[in-house]
Amino acid sequence: MQAAVHVVSIDPQGSTIWWANRLSDLPFDFSQEHQTPENLAILKDSGAQVHVVANQKGGVGKTTVTLNLAAVVADVLKGASTLRHVFIDTPGSLQDENLLLEALKYAHDVIVPMPPEPLAFDPTARTIEQVIQPTGIPYRVLINNWDPRDGQVDLEDTRAYIDAQGWPSLKSVIRRYKVHSRASAEGKVVTQYEENKPSFKAREDFYRLAIELRYGGAA
Ligand SMILES: Nc1ncnc2c1ncn2[C@@H]1O[C@H](COP(=O)(O)OP(=O)(O)O)[C@@H](O)[C@H]1O
Ligand SMILES: [Mg+2]
Repeated sequence: MQAAVHVVSIDPQGSTIWWANRLSDLPFDFSQEHQTPENLAILKDSGAQVHVVANQKGGVGKTTVTLNLAAVVADVLKGASTLRHVFIDTPGSLQDENLLLEALKYAHDVIVPMPPEPLAFDPTARTIEQVIQPTGIPYRVLINNWDPRDGQVDLEDTRAYIDAQGWPSLKSVIRRYKVHSRASAEGKVVTQYEENKPSFKAREDFYRLAIELRYGGAA
């Protein structure tokens, strides 16, 4: 049966390559296409919505967001028999900009993960202003990896920066939980986390995000 959700990595250094070998029980289909990005052209006729997750800064959470959002949407759409959503995880480097541009040819929208750290601001601005905005594709910035124990200041500063740039952003925030980094070492996605409080909160963030994005259908 055709899965409702497909994840594509076009990151040559993709930790998703590593993930794919580990995930025994993926809730979505997965393929690695950095060597054959022209395969993405198939997406054009698939009728699925194509979401590109992009930021040319490494380590901002592109892979984490791609896999976990895809897992949650797959969970909401389980039972659907046609492909509905494709998520493309992209490289976090300037050298591979051609791969990102190829993915953007097929994108319906773009999610730009960004941590609440000033060091990430300039590289994120470059990706948005030089690569995403010129395409005219709708995009939204997603704050990822905010640690609530650090207090609200980082979050507020980051929101103020995003608003000052005039960038559209998502209300949902993905908080920092150790379980995310631990899970990536174990090859697990958020729908497969153990039942305990931090896992519940970590999972909740991605369900809330999926609802805000309306990827599982209107609320
Ligand atoms: N919300 C989060 N909570 C905890 N760890 C996170 C979170 N987001 C990302 N990480 C960790 O940060 C590192 C970089 O994330 P990753 O998704 O690989 O970034 P990218 O794909 O942009 O390079 C990984 O070790 C990942 O587990
Ligand atoms: Mg990555």
